[in-house]
Amino acid sequence: MNRKVTKAVFPVAGMGTRFLPATKSIPKEIMTLVDRPLIQYAIDEARDAGIEEFIFVTSRGKSALEDYFDAAPQLEDSLQKKGKTDLLAELKRTDMPSGAIAYVRQREALGLGHAVWCARRLIADEPFAVLLPDDVIAADKSCLHQMVEAYQETGGCMVAAMEVPNDKVSSYGVLDVNQDLGSIVSVKGMVEKPKASEAPSNLAVIGRYILNPGVLDYLDQMQVGAGGEIQLTDAIASQIKTEDGVHGYRFRGQRFDCGSKTGFLQATVAFGLARDDLGDDFRTFLTDFLELRRAAE
Ligand code: UTP
Repeated sequence: MNRKVTKAVFPVAGMGTRFLPATKSIPKEIMTLVDRPLIQYAIDEARDAGIEEFIFVTSRGKSALEDYFDAAPQLEDSLQKKGKTDLLAELKRTDMPSGAIAYVRQREALGLGHAVWCARRLIADEPFAVLLPDDVIAADKSCLHQMVEAYQETGGCMVAAMEVPNDKVSSYGVLDVNQDLGSIVSVKGMVEKPKASEAPSNLAVIGRYILNPGVLDYLDQMQVGAGGEIQLTDAIASQIKTEDGVHGYRFRGQRFDCGSKTGFLQATVAFGLARDDLGDDFRTFLTDFLELRRAAE
């Protein structure tokens, strides 16, 4: 079986209502973590994992995203003339070769499963990755890279998984674990957004997947699941009984839910502190700020 993963789908057609009013005119994926839009972190991670074809599932109002990956000749020219080589290099890092990115539209936000289904013709008949750009993962080796390596052993479908507190399981797809082998777990069931009392475990699925095309056959049926949406979780669960089955992968790294305000703020602090050029000043500011607050209380 072909286990080379060269295509990735980035579903970015959601409405991002948790960030209104900002998302009234700015796509959530363009919102900036330190100095790079969220989507850039996901693209960098995919490139690092060997992805060569990038498929965006977009919707109305996301043209800023398409512009972001386009060439910017005037800007480059101006930076060149001013000798701003550092900035020019930064800009060049966002370049995507012609033909590497494809866009498909999801006409209606019918759910994550439906968004992935919209990319079916571009995915065709090979394994593919899915990255949700609102999940930003800080790791020494990128999360998708770790998964691509583990996938060479397992095949089938693989989802990134992490333990979450019991009172949070109802926000995630949750794994029913068959066999726990440490970083890899084999899966015998998956439930989308279960009540805490009904969750089969506290091992939650986060926004990185490697899927086989069988998932698309399930999505063809357009079955509506939890929350009235066409759920990717249900499509992946349909592959549990196939030969290679479904595996969860406990990645090494820290995941930030940048689809939520708290997660975005936490990521801003973590990524700001980790930067060589900003970290020291930012740390001093935060320490002083918190001390002043404490003294005033
Ligand atoms: P979310 O559940 O975070 O939804 O989607 P959202 O619309 O982006 O944000 P809120 O909840 O309204 O604030 C998770 C991912 O799935 C994509 C989103 O763009 C995001 O990357 N998605 C979701 C789609 O592409 N289409 C859909 O129909 C639903």
